Amino acid sequence: MNTYANPLRDPQDRRLPRIAGPCVLVIFGVTGDLSRKKLMPAVYDLANRGMLPPGFGLVGFARREWADQDFAQVVHDAVKENARTEFREEVWEQLLEGIRFVPGTFDSDDSFRKLKDTISELDNARGTGGNHAFYLSIPPSSFETVISQLKRHGLTDRSEGNWNRVVIEKPFGHDLQSARELNDVVSSLFEPQEVFRIDHYLGKETVQNMLALRFANQLFEPIWNNHYVSHVQITMAEDIGIGGRAGYYDGIGAARDVIQNHLLQLLALTAMEEPTSFEASQLRAEKQKVLAAARVPDDYARHTARGQYAAGWQGGRPVRGYLEEDGVDANSHTETYAAIRVDVDNRRWAGVPFYLRTAKRMPRRVTEVALSFKQAPHLPFTETDTEALGTNALVMRIQPDEGVTLRFGAKVPGTQMEIREVSMDFGYGGSFTESSPEAYERLILDVLLGDPPLFPQQEEVELSWQILDPVIEYWESLDEQPQPYTAGTWGPRCGIEMLAHDGFTWRRP
Ligand code: BG6
Repeated sequence: MNTYANPLRDPQDRRLPRIAGPCVLVIFGVTGDLSRKKLMPAVYDLANRGMLPPGFGLVGFARREWADQDFAQVVHDAVKENARTEFREEVWEQLLEGIRFVPGTFDSDDSFRKLKDTISELDNARGTGGNHAFYLSIPPSSFETVISQLKRHGLTDRSEGNWNRVVIEKPFGHDLQSARELNDVVSSLFEPQEVFRIDHYLGKETVQNMLALRFANQLFEPIWNNHYVSHVQITMAEDIGIGGRAGYYDGIGAARDVIQNHLLQLLALTAMEEPTSFEASQLRAEKQKVLAAARVPDDYARHTARGQYAAGWQGGRPVRGYLEEDGVDANSHTETYAAIRVDVDNRRWAGVPFYLRTAKRMPRRVTEVALSFKQAPHLPFTETDTEALGTNALVMRIQPDEGVTLRFGAKVPGTQMEIREVSMDFGYGGSFTESSPEAYERLILDVLLGDPPLFPQQEEVELSWQILDPVIEYWESLDEQPQPYTAGTWGPRCGIEMLAHDGFTWRRP
């Protein structure tokens, strides 16, 4: 008997592609931007990479009088325009066989009867085994209607061996109270393990690499604490304005849109303890512990900042201010720049401020997590030798220039001992031949596989609101416009002052 395991057949072999089983993915809100730019292309990219089974069906549901072919054309165009991988006719033909469209409104029983018939037809035609994922890419105000319709029409009935899952997009509420109410609605029909909350940052390769960097290496752990780190800066800057999203964004603002989810998740991954494994329950437990220990120090005037972009220049073109954007209330108090200081009250991080900032219309698009280290306790150099020496920093570059940078001092060549700051870089492009999948590819695949570690749980959502709610309440109580900043600059004066009070300055990534 051959005792050698065939590595290609070993289920533990990480090189094996993870392939979803037969199933139907139903997307509500299929005419929206997210669907066109991210979801449909990601479905195609998965198919193209051989990660969707032949028995896969895609159903779009929306208020359009489209036939299946019209919807297929929309998917086709979205794929051609936005897919990451090359277009291959044979992959498309196979996907096309499972594409269906149901015209309808959320409150119409008739539409949901049609949806049920369509899904049953696909179940039979594609052998999906009755496995269904419902992707709610719709405003939270419609969740209750859709979920009760699914229930009423028996669309999520469980039988032996099949599964039903629901995928929900942020915003998970607009504060703690509404997040709880939303969860009550979702959990009235779905068990916790059937609910997949999307925070697309967790689907990014570079974000998952934070776990590899921290826990696969011996090098960083000894200095990953308040003995060595002076402070941490987490930045998500965007050069775009709000585009056509006023309906969603105005009244929501940068803190709810980005800090509550993406940035607090990045903080959790940076600050958490090592989980005993990467099982969902272990990973979530560690993230929860850190979020439970995190708070914004309560002098909010000093430790938070908000701004709103005014007209300026971007990429050599004049751009409008926020208040002039289509659909924005001319007196809007909505912030497009938000920065907060977060302290993590535990032994590892006591005394190390975490500064989180996000904004629209900054000079460039960049997301990074930067750990700044304390000065060496003694520098045996004359003062002028070290003029150009900053503090050591480790920067996890999330996007767009994916990689990791280490900044430290080095001797300038010459006969003198002069020290200057230099960088050591790891870049994905230079080290790996394969390009990174889009976050939504990974997340949709994980939903279809029922693999939960990359999806935040309700507890994390609630803890994040608990951190942010008092800040937002304080901002609202001021009843004034956020400080303006010129589009194309690094934000308002109050943002700079917030760090200056603590003796720091923001990095210019
Ligand atoms: C979304 C926010 O979650 O993330 C948007 O709602 C933002 O306002 C977007 O533009 C940014 O995502 P990414 O992946 O381009 O950084």
